Amino acid sequence: MALRHLAAQAGLPLGAAVAAEPLRRDPAYRALLAREFGMVTCENAMKWGPIHPALRTWAFRDADAIVRFATRHAMAVRGHTLVWHSQQPRWLEHGSWSRPALTRVLRAHIATLVGRYRGRIGAWDVVNEAVNDDGTPRPTFWRRVLGPKYLDLAFHAAHRADPKARLFYNDYNAEALGEKSDAILRLVDGMRHRGVPVHGIGLQAHLLLGDLPDFKSVAANITRIAARGLTVQITELDIRIRRPVTAAKLRAQADAYLALAETCLASGACTAFVTWGATDKSSWVPGFFKGYDDALLFDRACRPKPAARSLAEVFNRQV
Ligand code: G3I
Repeated sequence: MALRHLAAQAGLPLGAAVAAEPLRRDPAYRALLAREFGMVTCENAMKWGPIHPALRTWAFRDADAIVRFATRHAMAVRGHTLVWHSQQPRWLEHGSWSRPALTRVLRAHIATLVGRYRGRIGAWDVVNEAVNDDGTPRPTFWRRVLGPKYLDLAFHAAHRADPKARLFYNDYNAEALGEKSDAILRLVDGMRHRGVPVHGIGLQAHLLLGDLPDFKSVAANITRIAARGLTVQITELDIRIRRPVTAAKLRAQADAYLALAETCLASGACTAFVTWGATDKSSWVPGFFKGYDDALLFDRACRPKPAARSLAEVFNRQV
């Protein structure tokens, strides 16, 4: 049975980040996605730069194509992302903004984007990566112009645009207990205390074989998030391997995928398990980390790797 069905039966929907390019051009990629994954995230297509290239210009083509594909194949959709410091269009980042003007632009952006897909996107990464690794706030464009309240503003706007969507704060290096995950919890606790509609924390999980987090500590982190009534989603999972990639490293990678899936399943608090790409051919990893590769579940020819088989095993065990 395909992974997406095993995952669904186990109660942990399996997803993948989708790139518009291969979706358009590569039938094998489309077939793999529809068969093996029950959820998609737009890898880039819904970010400010690609989708809102000028103040009065929207470019919905890629995002629409991905959402249409998901609907046609009964896949859920995660929206990514409404506020981030990266991939911003020049007009936004290099504009000279007063606080009220930027507030209006941010509210309008969120109303248009979230509103367009209302009812079709179940979860949004509203704010992405606003915390540094040492737990201090990241000094982003948004924070510089709007002050720390920009987070509240974004969540309120997203909630107004789609009251049923679940709204997430999403970040990396915050899977286990530590300074960063502590700071994120404080941030989210603060928002909830102020009545801000935030429903969950996205743990990206861009992991490195050989320097994996302690999965007991990940379990403890998920437990404390869940204890607050918040949902957890694994939002951008990949486990990169330092070249040369060997059979032993692929087995170790499979064990790590399995350990994270088991941790999620045991917690009862995870509602998605999304890998950052579907195959090693379309992964961001080799382009960004020289000397690293092979981070995903399927190889360049769309064949399942040991990690895909170990996930099938752990999902099967739940049924
Ligand atoms: O679309 C243009 C294309 O027109 C141009 O010819 C080409 C030349 O470089 O660039 C293309 O854009 C690139 C885009 O990926 C699509 O391939 C951007 O340069 C490149 O910066 C962009 O990288 C993305 C990265 O975010 C941006 O920081 C990665 O694909 C994407 O996987 C990555 O995703 C992020 C998550 O959103 C947040 N968490 C971390 C994660 C990994 O960095």
